[in-house]
Amino acid sequence: CFMATKIERNSTFAQLNSDDISYFKKFLGEKNVIQEEDALLAANIDWMHKYRGSSKLLLQPRSTEEVSQILKYCNSRRLAVVPQGGNTGLVGGSVPVFDEVIVNVSLMNNIISFDKVSGVLVCEAGCILENLISFLDNQGFIMPLDLGAKGSCQIGGNVSTNAGGLRLLRYGSLHGNVLGLEAVTANGEVLDMLSTLRKDNTGYDLKHLFIGSEGSLGIVTKVSILTPPKLSSVNVAFLACKDYFSCQKLLLEAKRKLGEILSAFEFLDEQSMTLALNYLEGVRNPLPPPLHNFYILIETTGSNESYDKEKLEAFLLGAMERDLISDGIVAQDIQQASSVWRIREGIPEALTRAGVTYKYDLSLPVDKINDLVKEMRNRLGNLATVVAYGHLGDGNLHLNISASQYDDAILAQIEPFVYEWTSKNQGSISAEHGLGLMKANKILYSKSPLTVQVMASIKKLLDPNGILNPYKVLPQSMVA
Ligand code: FAD
Ligand code: MLT
Ligand code: ZN
Repeated sequence: CFMATKIERNSTFAQLNSDDISYFKKFLGEKNVIQEEDALLAANIDWMHKYRGSSKLLLQPRSTEEVSQILKYCNSRRLAVVPQGGNTGLVGGSVPVFDEVIVNVSLMNNIISFDKVSGVLVCEAGCILENLISFLDNQGFIMPLDLGAKGSCQIGGNVSTNAGGLRLLRYGSLHGNVLGLEAVTANGEVLDMLSTLRKDNTGYDLKHLFIGSEGSLGIVTKVSILTPPKLSSVNVAFLACKDYFSCQKLLLEAKRKLGEILSAFEFLDEQSMTLALNYLEGVRNPLPPPLHNFYILIETTGSNESYDKEKLEAFLLGAMERDLISDGIVAQDIQQASSVWRIREGIPEALTRAGVTYKYDLSLPVDKINDLVKEMRNRLGNLATVVAYGHLGDGNLHLNISASQYDDAILAQIEPFVYEWTSKNQGSISAEHGLGLMKANKILYSKSPLTVQVMASIKKLLDPNGILNPYKVLPQSMVA
C-alpha cells in the first residue's frame, strides 16, 4: 500500500560500505550502530505507512559531539543522511527515500535546566514531548504546544517541523516560543544559538532557519523553550453546529466573549465523528443521536474557576439564543474532558485504521474552508470519503481523503486541483506538517520563485553537498 516514488537516487551520493560501519562503531559503540532488520524496517516506514525507504543503517548518537562526528564523516564521504525523531511526521520527511543513513537523537533525552522564574526549559532534542509535559506538570508549568502524537514525537522533531497543534491559538507558534537552539550543520559544525533570553536583537536570528526546515539544514541537538504556567481552571465544551456558517460565527463569538481564556477551538465534521466512533476503542459521542454536520471543541484555560465558568456559560447561552449551536455539553470532570479530546486527537489514527489516506494540511481564510471540502466531495463522488477537521481557530483545515487503497484515478481528482485552489485563495499548502517528500515539488504554489531561490542558496551554504534530508522540502532541480 506504499506510494510509488517517481524520483531517482542522486548518484553523487556514496554507497555505505563496511569501512563506514567500522568507523561508526568505533566512536558510537556497537549497540548504537543499528543494522537489525526489524529496527530498520520500523525506521524505514513512516507513521501513515505511505512511504518506505531502504536504509541499511540507523545511528543513535549520545551527544552533540557524536552528532558532529557523524555528520563530518558523512559529509566527507558524501553519505546522505535523514534526521529522524519520533517518526510521526505526515509528509514523508522523516524516512529515507533510498539508502540514506538514519540519525536519531532519541538517546539525547536529558532535561538540562528549568528556570521557575522565567519558565524557560532547556533540554536535549531527543526528549519526547509527553515526557516534557509531565516534567513541567510537576513544576506547575505546561508546554506551549500539544499534539496527538505527544507520546512519540520528540521536541527536536517538533522544532524541525515547526509543529502547530492544539494550543497554537493561545500560545502562538514555535517561532515565538523557542528562545534558542543548538544545531549541527552538514559539515559537523556546532551552531550555538542556545539563548534563554526573551529578547535578543543581535544580528540575524539564525535559529528561525532551523525551526520548520525539516532536517534539511542541520540536526537540532538542544532546545530552549518558553513554557507558560499551568493555570488552575480548565473547561472543555463539545458543541454541535448545523452548518458551517454557524461554526464561523461561533469562532468569532468565542474570540469576543471568551477572549483571554480561550485556549483551543477545534472542529470536526460528521464524517470525522463517524470514523472516530467506528475505529477508536471506547470512544462514544457525548451528544445524543442524530449525528450533526459539525462539531466544535472549545477549551478555556484561566486562573479563576468561577469567573471562567461564568464567562463560558454566558458565551454558550448567547450562542444558543442566536441558534449557533444545536446541542452541546460542558465536560463535568477531567475524565469527560479527556474523552472529548480523545475524539478529536484520535481522528488521524482512525483514518489509518480505515484504509489509506490522502492527507492535505491547508491554511485558508476561515470563510473558504468548507467551500473546498464541498468541491472535493463533488469531485470524488463515491470514489472516496472526504473527512475534514482541524484547528479552525487558526484557519487550518486538515483535508483527508480516505480510500481502501492508493489509486491514480483518485489522485487525479485531488491533485493539482487542491493545490491550485489553495493558491488561488491565498492559502498555504502546508499549514503545519511541512513539505517533506510529499510536497517538495509543490512549494511554488505557496512561495514566490525568488524566495525559493533564496532558500536554495541558504541550503547550499549550510549543506553544500546536499547530504541532509535529500529529495525533501525544496525541488531537487534547485538544490542537487
Ligand atoms: P519526525 O517525524 O521523526 O521528523 C519530522 C521531520 O523533522 C523530518 O523531516 C525529520 O528529518 C526532521 N527531524 C526530526 N528530528 C530532527 C532533529 N533532531 N533535527 C533536525 N531534523 C529533525 N503536527 C502538527 O503540526 N500539529 C499537530 O497537531 C499534529 N498532530 C499529529 C498527530 C498525530 C497522531 C501524528 C501521527 C502526527 C501529528 N503531527 C502534527 C505531525 C508531526 O509533524 C508531529 O507529530 C511532530 O512535530 C513530528 O515530530 P517527530 O519527532 O515525530 O519528527
Ligand atoms: C491533527 O491536527 O490531528 C494533526 O495535525 C494530524 C492530522 O492532520 O491528521
Ligand atoms: Zn493538526
